[in-house]
Order: sequence, then structure tokens, then C-alpha cells
Amino acid sequence: IRHLLSGADLDADTATQILDTAAEMAAVSGREVKKLPALRGRTVVNLFYEDSTRTRISFEAAAKRLSADVINFSAKGSSVTKGESLKDTALTLQAMGADAVVVRHPASGAPHRLADWVDGSVVNAGDGTHEHPTQALLDAYTMRSRLGRLAGLSVAVVGDVLHSRVARSNVLLLATLGAKVTLVGPPTLIPVDIAPGTDVCYDLDAVLPSSDVVMMLRVQRERMNDSYFPSAREYARRYGLDGPRMRRLPEHAIVMHPGPMNRGMEITPEVADSSRSTIVEQVTNGVSVRMAVLYLLLGGNNR
Ligand code: CP
Repeated sequence: IRHLLSGADLDADTATQILDTAAEMAAVSGREVKKLPALRGRTVVNLFYEDSTRTRISFEAAAKRLSADVINFSAKGSSVTKGESLKDTALTLQAMGADAVVVRHPASGAPHRLADWVDGSVVNAGDGTHEHPTQALLDAYTMRSRLGRLAGLSVAVVGDVLHSRVARSNVLLLATLGAKVTLVGPPTLIPVDIAPGTDVCYDLDAVLPSSDVVMMLRVQRERMNDSYFPSAREYARRYGLDGPRMRRLPEHAIVMHPGPMNRGMEITPEVADSSRSTIVEQVTNGVSVRMAVLYLLLGGNNR
């Protein structure tokens, strides 16, 4: 593949190749000297029009561990504030020799437009409410490393599914890799255009005993008005994962969250900091998965 824009870009073989390559990269990340020469002389641009902690730093760490040069661009403090368009910004970065552009943008579809304008590879690092494919890959990697497989797993994706690019990419990728996804949340926060084969349930307590994975989603108050979300206390009571609910999960089940969390809203600190939680592990795995993505796009068989 040349770009990674959507979970739908990945067939099972390609996704598995990325996860297997990430496992090899994890061995490098565990070494004292965490560097490989694979992308020496290549330039990766992090083009971020929306705030990020994990994804931006993770891509930067991944590119540096592969010996690429990294340029970090944040819309704040750039000529974007003077009205410069995404296209002109992208062409400027290309003129400086970008081999890959990692883009986060509030507009759904922005990375797809970018891919038409630049010669290098484009990686979608989150576009509006649309997709976040490398998050889905690191989530799949985490499930596979904790539970030993993806095919046949029951994964409950819980909360503000409507506004979640993480959920959308996970639904696509997990279906490709043979896991069964159930979307759980209040009816106002479940989209109407559900992918075929995906279940929906409005009762969190009903799905817990049969779930191998519970993926809690951040409630994205910044993307909604009160008609979606009448009361934080009522939301936490019905859809928050707390200690008593966690204890209804099977013994082996894990709890995931892409971060950033609203502690006390969709997840309590007791659950977030428990041994079932993979939240910190997801961040660690994100670096290996993004190393694998950059390696396969820029240094692998494609060039
Ligand atoms: N999970 C995730 O995308 O986190 P950031 O917004 O901090 O990058």
C-alpha cells in the first residue's frame, strides 16, 4: 500500500503483516539502543491541525527509531493562522522533501484530499469523526498480544460511538481480522449506518459477561450538543465502566481505552488503573505499530 487512510485500506494479509512487523519492532524498542537505520535519509512530516499527545509523539518516536528525519508541524503558530490552505501547506512541506505526511485534521476526509496533492505517502492520524487507522492497528496488536488471537474474539465498543473515529476504524479492521464487534451506548450516540455484521446493544450490563474485550470510548463533549448528552451523571451510571461492572467480565477479559480518558465519566480510576487495563500498554504498542507502518510504507517492498 502507498497510503494508510482508512481501516478499509487493509486486507487481512496486509493487516497481519503490519502486526507481525510491529512485533519485530517491539523487540527493537525493548533494546538499550532503540534505533534501526531503515529510514535513514527519509523525511516524515507530522502535520497536526488538531491537538494530540499520544499520536503525535508516538509517530515522532517511531520515525526517529527508524532513523528518519522528523519535522513537526502544528497549525497553531504556523501560516495556517493567516489563512493558508491545507493544499498550499502540503505543497510547501513537499517542497521541503517530505517522503511521508502524517496528518491529523478536524475535517473528515482531509487526508484523502492530501493524498491527491502530494507525491509521498499519507498516513491518517485522525480525521474529524471519520477514522484513525493506526489506533485500530495498535488496538488489534494489543488484543492479539494479550489474548493470543483476534479471530473469534467478542469486542464490546462502548460509549460515544457516533463521534468516534477510533470506533469506526476498529469496526472495519476487527471485521477484517475475524473478531465480532458489538457497539454499546445510548441510542443518540450510536450511528445509524452500522457496518454489516456489527451488533448493537443499548445495555452495557447485558454484554459484559460474554466480552473478551471492552473498549471504552471518550465522551467527546466538544463534538456534541445537549440533545445527544443530557446528563454526565446519568451517562456514567448507565454506560460508565466501574469496579462492580468490571468484575462481571470473564476472568481473562481486558479493558481498553484509546485515551485521553474522562476519568469518572466513561471509566473509573479503579478500572483504568487495574491489571485488566491495557491503556498504558496501548501507548507502548503504538510506537511499534507506527514503526511498522512507516517502515512498510517507506522502506519496505513498495519503493
Ligand atoms: N488516542 C489518541 O489519538 O490520542 P491523542 O489524541 O492524544 O493523539
